[in-house]
Amino acid sequence: MKIHAVILGAAGYGGGELLRLLSGHPDIASIQAVSRSHAGQAVGKAHPNLQGFLELAFQAEADWTGFAGSDSIVMFSAQPHFELASQLRSLEAAWSAAGIADRVTLLDLSGDFRLADPGVFTASYGRAHPCPDRLGSFVYGLPEWKAAELKGAPRIANPGCFATAVQLALLPLRGLDLGFVAVSGVTGSSGSGALPSETAHHPTRAHDFRAYKALEHQHQGEMEGLLSGLGIRGDLAFVPHSAPLVRGIFATVQFQLPEGLDEAALQQRYQATYSEAPFIRLVEGSPRLAGVVGSNLCEIGLAVNGRRVAILAALDNLIKGMAGQAVQNLNLALGLPEKAGLWSPGLYPG
Ligand SMILES: NC(=O)c1ccc[n+]([C@@H]2O[C@H](COP(=O)([O-])OP(=O)(O)OC[C@H]3O[C@@H](n4cnc5c(N)ncnc54)[C@H](OP(=O)(O)O)[C@@H]3O)[C@@H](O)[C@H]2O)c1
Repeated sequence: MKIHAVILGAAGYGGGELLRLLSGHPDIASIQAVSRSHAGQAVGKAHPNLQGFLELAFQAEADWTGFAGSDSIVMFSAQPHFELASQLRSLEAAWSAAGIADRVTLLDLSGDFRLADPGVFTASYGRAHPCPDRLGSFVYGLPEWKAAELKGAPRIANPGCFATAVQLALLPLRGLDLGFVAVSGVTGSSGSGALPSETAHHPTRAHDFRAYKALEHQHQGEMEGLLSGLGIRGDLAFVPHSAPLVRGIFATVQFQLPEGLDEAALQQRYQATYSEAPFIRLVEGSPRLAGVVGSNLCEIGLAVNGRRVAILAALDNLIKGMAGQAVQNLNLALGLPEKAGLWSPGLYPG
């Protein structure tokens, strides 16, 4: 199969990771890197790691002409929240005009289409959705949960990076009553994107550690979506922290072991859920960011003491939390091997 990739927001951190991964993907025939701020410049200007690997210039707009009838087209949107939702109707009109509408797979890396409920969207993102009628029409792209729905899906909403780590920690707990679920998540500065901001500025961040958006983070709704989707009862309280790291998410999920379940049965749930999941590595003791950073892997570890349980998860926010997961979703959507273009270990030391 010939697959042509178009990336909107290609000059950002997620766009750069998509370019890096897709340039090594065996089924990608061509790439268009769309950036308004960098149009005409070589991709190596924004992504110095790609110099000598990808001889490509950013273009101001996507070109939807010139795709042969048997080709697949995949469009990744790696733009800030609200951008794709505002562009969706005109993009779909352009695909129809070019006669490619039935061959486009759209993967959105922002939060625009992860939530189905307009009220939850407004509460999470602070303003109303630009096209609420389309909420719920994208498959939620957590591959370890939604593999069957992803097959052939034309519209995919890639999960948030915190939401990915926390949901992978919770996924094996289907049907349980967890009571109060205390969740803390730690992120590196690349989670804020490539544009400079006060909270990601090196002097203010490099020797600091703080919580932010405590109990108000926009990924809470995604996490609750997994709870309700899997019949897990729990009152989830999420507190994110910003750490002096560049890459990485580390999530800690704590609850009381439900009645009738012991440590061995809990361990068995994780083994069974992830026995066929290529990108989940179950570890003894604590997961580590060193070893998963640079890869599409998520490490998960369990600690149990009496009835107290802590599930720990670590991943690279730009890969398993973003661009790598999007490529994994592309592979599943188009029936390619799940590991295509993604099977490499992380960096150690990280
Ligand atoms: N960073 C992470 O760890 C992470 C993880 C999961 C999901 N996400 C989500 O993925 C999306 C991209 O994140 P990112 O970290 O790659 O962001 P980024 O580094 O800031 O890049 C975003 C890109 O979008 C383009 N853009 C289009 N409209 C824009 C606007 N109105 N304001 C600013 N930029 C605009 C910009 O490119 P041009 O102006 O050149 O076109 C920019 O390069 C976001 O929705 C983010 O929430 C991020």
